[in-house]
Amino acid sequence: MHETDITVVQPERLHDLIKNKLMKAGLPEVHAEETARHLVFADASGIHSHGAVRVDYYAERIAKGGTTLDPKITFEKTGPSTGIVHGDNGMGQYVCDQALNYALEMVEESGLAFVGVSRTGHSGALSYYVKKAAEKGYVALSMCQSDPMVVPFGGSENYFGTNPIAFAVPSEDDTPVVFDMATTVQAWGKILDARSKQKEIPSTWAVDKEGNPTTDPNAVQGLLPIAGPKGYGLMMMVDVLAGSLLGLPFGKSVSSMYDDLTAKRNLGQMYLLIDPARFTDPKEFTKNISKMVKELHEIKPAQGFDQVYYPGELGKIIHDKYMAEGIPVATPILEYLESDTVHFDQYGGKGAFAK
Ligand code: NAI
Repeated sequence: MHETDITVVQPERLHDLIKNKLMKAGLPEVHAEETARHLVFADASGIHSHGAVRVDYYAERIAKGGTTLDPKITFEKTGPSTGIVHGDNGMGQYVCDQALNYALEMVEESGLAFVGVSRTGHSGALSYYVKKAAEKGYVALSMCQSDPMVVPFGGSENYFGTNPIAFAVPSEDDTPVVFDMATTVQAWGKILDARSKQKEIPSTWAVDKEGNPTTDPNAVQGLLPIAGPKGYGLMMMVDVLAGSLLGLPFGKSVSSMYDDLTAKRNLGQMYLLIDPARFTDPKEFTKNISKMVKELHEIKPAQGFDQVYYPGELGKIIHDKYMAEGIPVATPILEYLESDTVHFDQYGGKGAFAK
């Protein structure tokens, strides 16, 4: 396999290209603006699996009617610290950002917010949301459903999604500690990224149609959970908290990203926001988080490592670098963004593992 060329793009230009493409597909400006902000954050943080690589697919889904263009987003407060945001299957990044705002209002008032997001589109990289909450001083957890593309431990057919978990906590120096991971060895987007770059994947990430490990991203038919039965258990927990608890389809009934692009996704997401001041002295708390980071940095690295990073630190380091120097994007993705094209038959109906 030959690796695809990379072009470095300034964040503002990437933002405008993404926003314009989504609007060309039919998305209203305010939704396109928020989605572009989110996708640039992902690419700038090195999360290329959830950045510009997704625009082609999003645009096709928007053009085909699988995203509500003018969603009636409502907040149903179900208790002092609980509520559900009904997303009406709007653009996931927009719906989930709005939902976060409701959760922030609630935690400010009650010190705790468990807010579910019911019936949203694909929401992208979850670190985007939890980081925002931690920047306002809250401890934040978010999880979401994703399409069933993971073989359960010991199984040969897909059941749960790549169901990610993101966590953020404020620190003393205004830079939150943000950790964000899929419960699979790699997110599905990493397979997409490898496909876009024509790059082989490690044999530990995924299986082919016979259930055997594969290094060819085009042959992938199922992903593997992290740490065997433990990751398998975590993805079940995510499916319950972000799906069943909100009365949404679960397990293999969760909608598939590439099956029918005219249909709505009906996905679930959840936020748990905690005001540290309700439990401890918040100044002491953030001081201790910074102390933890410092102590981790002081740990002698193992052979082959240059230093110990706090969980998620690499994303922040990359973000600072790419925002200053420009973001590397696969050249074919950039060429697509710069073109007038909105695809209509690139992804739809080709199943979760479309090539
Ligand atoms: P990953 O494997 O690249 O990284 C996982 C975490 O480990 C990150 O916080 C990263 O900064 C940290 N990390 C990596 N190397 C490290 C090191 N040496 N020291 C300390 N920390 C280190 O992420 P993954 O699992 O591929 O997920 C990518 C993204 O996909 C996430 O943003 C996730 O939210 C998103 N996602 C979204 C889905 C959706 O449906 N909305 C579904 C699945 C994933």
